[in-house]
Amino acid sequence: MDERIQSFEELIKSDRETNSHDEWQGTFLEYLEKVKVEPGLPQLSHARVYDLIIRHGTTDIPESENRPSPIKGITKTYNFFSEDFFGIEKAIAQIVRYFHSASLKGEESRQVLYLMGPVGSGKTSLVEKIESLLEDSEPFYAIDGCPMHEEPLHLIPRHLRKEFEKMLGTHIEGDLCPVCRFRLEEEYGGRYEDVPVSTQRFSKRHRVGIGIVPPVDPNNQDTSVLIGSEDISKLDLYSEGDPRVLDLNGALNVANRGICEFIEVFKNDTEYLHAMITATQEKVIPAPGRHGLVYCDICIAAHSNEAEWQKFKGDHTNEAILDRIVVGKVPYNRRLSEDVKIYDKIIENSDFQAHIAPHTLEVASMFALLSRLEQTSKCDLMTKLKIYNGEEVIEKGKTKKIDIAELREETKREGMDGISTRFVMKALDNALSDNIDGNCINPISVREALVAMVRESELGDDTRKRYLEFLQDTLHKEYLEKLEKEITKAFVFAYEEQAEALFQNYLDHAEAFVNKSKVKDRSTGEELEPDDGFLKSIEEQIAIIGSAAEGFRQDVIAYLWSSSRRGVTISYTSYEPLKLAIEKKLMSSVRELSRIVTRATTRDAEQTGKYDAMVQNLLDNGYCTSCVDTILKYAANNLWKD
Ligand SMILES: Nc1ncnc2c1ncn2[C@@H]1O[C@H](COP(=O)(O)OP(=O)(O)OP(=O)(O)O)[C@@H](O)[C@H]1O
Ligand SMILES: [Mg+2]
Repeated sequence: MDERIQSFEELIKSDRETNSHDEWQGTFLEYLEKVKVEPGLPQLSHARVYDLIIRHGTTDIPESENRPSPIKGITKTYNFFSEDFFGIEKAIAQIVRYFHSASLKGEESRQVLYLMGPVGSGKTSLVEKIESLLEDSEPFYAIDGCPMHEEPLHLIPRHLRKEFEKMLGTHIEGDLCPVCRFRLEEEYGGRYEDVPVSTQRFSKRHRVGIGIVPPVDPNNQDTSVLIGSEDISKLDLYSEGDPRVLDLNGALNVANRGICEFIEVFKNDTEYLHAMITATQEKVIPAPGRHGLVYCDICIAAHSNEAEWQKFKGDHTNEAILDRIVVGKVPYNRRLSEDVKIYDKIIENSDFQAHIAPHTLEVASMFALLSRLEQTSKCDLMTKLKIYNGEEVIEKGKTKKIDIAELREETKREGMDGISTRFVMKALDNALSDNIDGNCINPISVREALVAMVRESELGDDTRKRYLEFLQDTLHKEYLEKLEKEITKAFVFAYEEQAEALFQNYLDHAEAFVNKSKVKDRSTGEELEPDDGFLKSIEEQIAIIGSAAEGFRQDVIAYLWSSSRRGVTISYTSYEPLKLAIEKKLMSSVRELSRIVTRATTRDAEQTGKYDAMVQNLLDNGYCTSCVDTILKYAANNLWKD
């Protein structure tokens, strides 16, 4: 929308102008001229959706050399989806691939797209997103007054189609619906060139080009929901077989040209599903009563959760239907960075307005992810979580070498079970309702809310026990580590600079040690022996002791050399093992101070000053007065217990 628009009136006017620009009305003859200029106009539904997706562009996933893409086998993402969906690139790629091959009129154009996954994995949202794609697109051309807003080219009689196709440079597919066929004869005396054509907009609410089929009570499955019905009141007026009695207002009728969504599809009776299958496979739907078959052009997208799918699949009488379904798996996301984005998005779109303390969503996400990950013999679950997230995990002073691709390969059904997005959102809400006054949620309150919810849940005993362990043990430890680092950062004046200074100093001394040379003091220029005590004080932070130290120092220097050879500037964060050691060193340097000053009773004036400065630092870094209090009390009780 134009940013210069200031008033409501202007906004309305501008919108109307833009819309009227797209609108068109004319005769079929005039429409033919339009198609001649633009042979792509009479697009079939799958091709339309695919083109619209592609029009939003794609983004290549950079192939970083040392971090294999966590989205194996995928080289690009689709911008249209990536604004709203996180961590399910593979599922999206599968959906786009379906529309692509269907747009090329391959077998898939005659199959149902079926999204299957655990609850809350985004199936409904994905289909809705595709529907919004149509709603936001430019209008399409249809026979004026047709209940199925059909493609005007259907008016061309069979015997002339070859010739028209040649002249128009486009393929003509489909036949008139009974209503239009009747009107053509009765109202236009067969002069199809005079039939009015107009533009129509896709609209879910107005049921134009988008049809929705909710699950229907199996005992009361009236196919009129799908294919319309005969209007009983008109049966007296017209003879049987007169199309004027037809109400072609079923979901499949209105979805013509666009998309029809089947919610919880397998809750429906098999008989009911046959109408759906015929609509895709044969591209026809039965007209109610004795009106034969009606051509249709619909993308059918169905979804349900896995249990329904397994039940359906288990019944061999469903084979014919199964054969006509393209399954798109939509598992839960398993990457931390992406999971946090999901909650960010949901919160942004909601009325949730509380303050969210740093690491809150991260902690909640970690729990969800731990519940979704499958055990591996290669590492513990928290390590797996971090590796999936592209983080480096340090063990014995070395980056743990576990191939993400291998981890993924050994999984069986990862992402199909575990805690859902909605469960986490409920926990965030619950945490808030426990702290309405503070109007703030934090990692501690969210973890408590999660514990309470897991305790009350209907989960099996084993699962509940496992989940509580994640919350009370794994996450507890993980969060304390984060918290200590956070408080250290707030305590240490100019944290980054101090870390950098330690890093440079370590490099100087380690280099001299490895080369058996001297260290030149940076300020005095004095030549000194490498300070073994200092080196050790850093190394012991990550349990590098005794004979291991020499190897570690050599590794660091080798890293330094290779970086400088490649012209890469390095900082204390460059070499993960050393970064960890330096951070721990800084932590231990203020541990004693932290222990004393976070206890209000023992603070003297000087310590109070330090304490206040630290609190201010935390406030500057995203905490509010309510949560800063909570986390410091928590730290005092858990990190620095006497
Ligand atoms: N990977 C994801 N990226 C972005 N949002 C997601 C993702 N997964 C779930 N969501 C969000 O979680 C919420 C629940 O998703 P949705 O209702 O689409 O799930 P569903 O698979 O249809 O669940 P159900 O099986 O219960 O019907 C939505 O707000 C959705 O946007
Ligand atoms: Mg759903």
